[in-house]
Amino acid sequence: MRSNMCRISILLLLACYGAMSAVVDVPKYKMLDGREMPAIGLGTYLGFDKGGAVTSKDKQLRNVVTEAIDVGYRHFDTAAIYNTESEVGEAIRMKIEEGVIKREDVFLTTKLWNTHHKREEVIIAMKETLNKTGLDYVDLFLMHWPIGVNADYTHSDTDFMETWHAMEDMVKLGFTKSIGLSNFNKMQIQRVLNEGTIKPVALQIEVHPQIIQEELIAFAKAEGIVVMGYSPFGSLVMRFGMEFPGPKMDDPVLTSLAQKYGKTPAQIVLRWLVDRNVVPIPKTVNPKRLRENINIFDFKLEEDEIEKINQFDSNTRYTLPSFWQTHPYYPFEQIPNPIPDPFRS
Ligand SMILES: NC(=O)c1ccc[n+]([C@@H]2O[C@H](COP(=O)([O-])OP(=O)(O)OC[C@H]3O[C@@H](n4cnc5c(N)ncnc54)[C@H](OP(=O)(O)O)[C@@H]3O)[C@@H](O)[C@H]2O)c1
Repeated sequence: MRSNMCRISILLLLACYGAMSAVVDVPKYKMLDGREMPAIGLGTYLGFDKGGAVTSKDKQLRNVVTEAIDVGYRHFDTAAIYNTESEVGEAIRMKIEEGVIKREDVFLTTKLWNTHHKREEVIIAMKETLNKTGLDYVDLFLMHWPIGVNADYTHSDTDFMETWHAMEDMVKLGFTKSIGLSNFNKMQIQRVLNEGTIKPVALQIEVHPQIIQEELIAFAKAEGIVVMGYSPFGSLVMRFGMEFPGPKMDDPVLTSLAQKYGKTPAQIVLRWLVDRNVVPIPKTVNPKRLRENINIFDFKLEEDEIEKINQFDSNTRYTLPSFWQTHPYYPFEQIPNPIPDPFRS
């Protein structure tokens, strides 16, 4: 009897350990160039304050990324402006050295910043990125915005097609496997499709229950472009230290779905993105939430449940750089009182 109890306890312990340490097998999307993108990515933007991009302390982000690799994340989203490329790259290199992954198992997305839109500047930015990550290539290089600015943040009239052609060169040089766009509107994407020699394989835009981006997603999908959704939690979480109007974690629509599927409201929202074929890129530096956010591939929402979440749409953007709205390539609708440019103050 006693030895049976012991055996059961050991089995339970092993089962718990198995559940805790289980590596989630994330599905992938085939992109236009034949390469594959994992269906969830880890966001690594840590915020912005008076000193610029908030940087990670004591290698916190590096440790989050190594842990993320252990639980199954294979896709990381960074950008030159986030100041996180070094730690993301360091974590990937550590895991390669440990033999946990090979370079080709990981998908690294990064972005060209607006100060480097001129043809000759793109290669400088690309090499800086590779230098920071310590990797030979990135998987996806996105144009962060269609907007070019000079070093002092005055507006530059560099045509984003000039930038795109330089990014095409980066593919040819082997510095990036694929190229894509971020924060482009439909007309701007259409122009890249018409005038480019390489089609953008991905489009990264803000998508959450308050901005469902139905039209832009349908357009991208029809063109075979994979959509990545940033700020996936929308109003569910605090932003810029503030609460914003819109659904919260205790919203009845989300909590009832969470109850039905045995998930959290955060997981329901991430799954809503996956069920719309959007790659969510949730950011977290919390080990528990890291596991929670990737644990969304064992259930599926019904059509009417997706529709219920769509009903939260109010076309609300949290990333609205209205200080650039007089730029000829500003992608969004203009607003009456633009905010002062934080890059110039
Ligand atoms: N292309 C662009 O212009 C652009 C713009 C914005 C963002 N992005 C990318 O998208 C990524 C994600 O966007 P985001 O950082 O704006 O917003 P987000 O991922 O929607 O929200 C991040 C916030 O949610 C919290 N959080 C994470 N998981 C949670 C969970 N399961 N339950 C409760 N709270 C949770 C995080 O806190 P903890 O860390 O404490 O968990 C953090 O405060 C960025 O990191 C960046 O890579 C791209």
